[in-house]
Amino acid sequence: MIVIKGGWPLSAGVKTFVNVNHTMAHIAIENLTKFFGTTLAVNDVTLAIKDREFAVLLGPSGCGKSTILNCLAGLEKPSSGKIFIDGRDMEKVPPHKRNIAMVFQNYALYPHMSVYNNLSFPLKMLRVSGDEISERISRAARILQIENIKERKPSELSGGQRQRVALGRAIVRNPGAFLMDEPLSNLDAALRNETRGELKKLHAKINATFVYVTHDQSEAMSMADRIAILKDGALLQMDTPYRIYREPADTFVASFLGSPPINLIRGRLISRGNTFLFNSDSLEVVLNGKAAKRLGDRSGPEVIMGVRPEHISILPPERSSVETPLEVLLVEPLGAETILEVSTRMEKLKLKVMGDPGIQVGARVRIKLNTDSLLFFDPATGKNLLST
Ligand SMILES: Nc1ncnc2c1ncn2[C@@H]1O[C@H](COP(=O)(O)OP(=O)(O)OP(=O)(O)O)[C@@H](O)[C@H]1O
Ligand SMILES: [Mg+2]
Repeated sequence: MIVIKGGWPLSAGVKTFVNVNHTMAHIAIENLTKFFGTTLAVNDVTLAIKDREFAVLLGPSGCGKSTILNCLAGLEKPSSGKIFIDGRDMEKVPPHKRNIAMVFQNYALYPHMSVYNNLSFPLKMLRVSGDEISERISRAARILQIENIKERKPSELSGGQRQRVALGRAIVRNPGAFLMDEPLSNLDAALRNETRGELKKLHAKINATFVYVTHDQSEAMSMADRIAILKDGALLQMDTPYRIYREPADTFVASFLGSPPINLIRGRLISRGNTFLFNSDSLEVVLNGKAAKRLGDRSGPEVIMGVRPEHISILPPERSSVETPLEVLLVEPLGAETILEVSTRMEKLKLKVMGDPGIQVGARVRIKLNTDSLLFFDPATGKNLLST
């Protein structure tokens, strides 16, 4: 067995584990709606999660993420709509027969039981044989590197260890799918970052479907095969992290992914001779051919232009695409990169540059926008005007 120092051992033991009772877990949610009284928690959500996919449900607090997960687990009953796991309608299937395991934010470990018994108890309830139980636990303990704490009580564990035990309790059940509701939110920032990577490796090794809920965009970006973005109970977009980042469906999605967030600037499209320009009170940008072609047919001239902080660069004065120099309001050094805030006459823009640009607050700079990466949105609906 290969053990990477400080990490979890993820090789030899895992292979046998994978082959034990692996079942498919393809999940389809169709027109799922859930009311709590008059509160619409989930609004007509339709999405499909592939077998062995790492899917993340992402959105702000109260957007319905946990409710969707609870409906998948069978802990909440949909008001309408259907859930299929491996093509089977789940309506009449109780939680324990759904071939899934849930990992909660607060871990829900039994406080009076040892780690070993926390892992074995649910299996005893499922009438798994004693030999099988000890085999499954030693495999899970090896994968999660919790072998030396099996006799401890949850109160004697660190947050990270408790989190691994909670995962272990899901793993020993050999589920086809893991449902995880913000499982890292109780960990400190450093451990959370580390555990992110470990969860992703774990997913690659155990070949199960993961449905992971978070409101943290960087967590979602770093782990997901695909992200489903939710707002007010509705699904706005589901795609790979980079597709969503580059082609957000609307201004909400565009703003939700990326840090610092995308700059959104209101303005007008105008044509001048052969060129097509975006023009705001303080910026004028010549559009590239592709954007000009796509936006040329628009009836109204009003648009919102979106430009991500990393797509603005600082230039020597003579090469600027913006007429007047802009004042630097804020300089935030992050080590590998620096965030600057500059003000135009009307807007404040955030930009991200590599390394130390050697610029002080109060300095005047000229900027250039990467015109190939600009986004344009309909000011009335917020919809992306360039996506198909
Ligand atoms: N048991 C309940 N009774 C009444 N309303 C509920 C219940 N559970 C959730 N809600 C409401 O449904 C909506 C969605 O809640 P949900 O817990 O699914 O959001 P969430 O996206 O998981 O949020 P968070 O990120 O804060 O955990 C919210 O408006 C919430 O207040
Ligand atoms: Mg929640």
